[in-house]
Amino acid sequence: MWQAGKEDLFDDDNQSRPSHAGPREVSGELTSDDLDIDHSLRPKTLSEYIGQERVRDNLRVLIAAAKDRHETLDHVLFSGPPGLGKTTLANVVANEMGARLHTTSGPAIARTGDLAAILTNLQEGDVLFVDEIHRLNHQVEEVLYPAMEDFFLDIVIGKGPAARSIRLDVPHFTLIGATTRTGLLTGPLRDRFGISYRLDYYTTRELSDIVMRSAKILGVTIDAEGAAEIASRSRGTPRLANRLLKRVRDYAQVRAGGSITWDVASEALAFFQIDELGLDWMDKKILTALTTTFRGRPVGLTTIASAVGEDPSTLEDVYEPYLLQQGLIIRTPQGRQATLAAFEHLGVQPPQQR
Ligand code: ADE
Repeated sequence: MWQAGKEDLFDDDNQSRPSHAGPREVSGELTSDDLDIDHSLRPKTLSEYIGQERVRDNLRVLIAAAKDRHETLDHVLFSGPPGLGKTTLANVVANEMGARLHTTSGPAIARTGDLAAILTNLQEGDVLFVDEIHRLNHQVEEVLYPAMEDFFLDIVIGKGPAARSIRLDVPHFTLIGATTRTGLLTGPLRDRFGISYRLDYYTTRELSDIVMRSAKILGVTIDAEGAAEIASRSRGTPRLANRLLKRVRDYAQVRAGGSITWDVASEALAFFQIDELGLDWMDKKILTALTTTFRGRPVGLTTIASAVGEDPSTLEDVYEPYLLQQGLIIRTPQGRQATLAAFEHLGVQPPQQR
């Protein structure tokens, strides 16, 4: 029986720490994306960064060109499911540019005045990272457009007939936006990013390399097979790979003399009830609903959401991409449907064989 959900097993570390992620970060508040990766594990430069090869190669060229011209980097948008390194990349970009990083999030900028305060506090060349940028409200977004395009703000002061508009210059800055789906962004905002990347799930090979690197930083002895076992259960995400590494390290320390081999990693992951595909409690609930409750029929998103008690957009942004990528579900015009692989994975008889 699967028990260890994300909450009990993984939300272990650093939840309340402010995001002083980069060496020169000057302000910060809690944002969602990889806040809880131990900061010491985060790569600080492009050469330390493992995976997302195309993005890295591109950024290397774009950053070198901007630096060569003594200009700021164009605004950058990172999209993709949670845990793939959007925040980490923002830190890397700021670091590579030799720029100060300011971190905030869409929901934290509630009013246009909040945005004005942030932008007018920037210095020339600073990087502003806005996580969950698709959650900016409409008015704030409207004020952001000229700031991104022409580096000025039009702010309305006062109300009614006494209201007047003032224009404030803002320093040249680079906005780095992160979103779980580019489709959630309004067209005008999306169009104002000169650079846009969709981050993909990491391969097991890349995650193994990340686990090896992190183990070295943590001072944990691990062999290639142990790292590969952790990597294969990490749902394609470095954040999870690092968390699993820490839990396996705990297990190894108490039960196995401290070193992580394949045997120790497998034992530890079984002990913590980590599925071979890294599926968590909610993934299993979704698959069980599709295979058992709905018997493999296509089901609409909102129906699944109410069956599992989760918000439809969380299902779509957080859970569905990995299940699709693993071939456990498919999207059809009639709705989401469990594949044969899902039935096999859960050990449930597919309907046609009943
Ligand atoms: N830790 C978390 N993400 C990483 C990455 N992409 N490369 C190296 N170490 C990491």
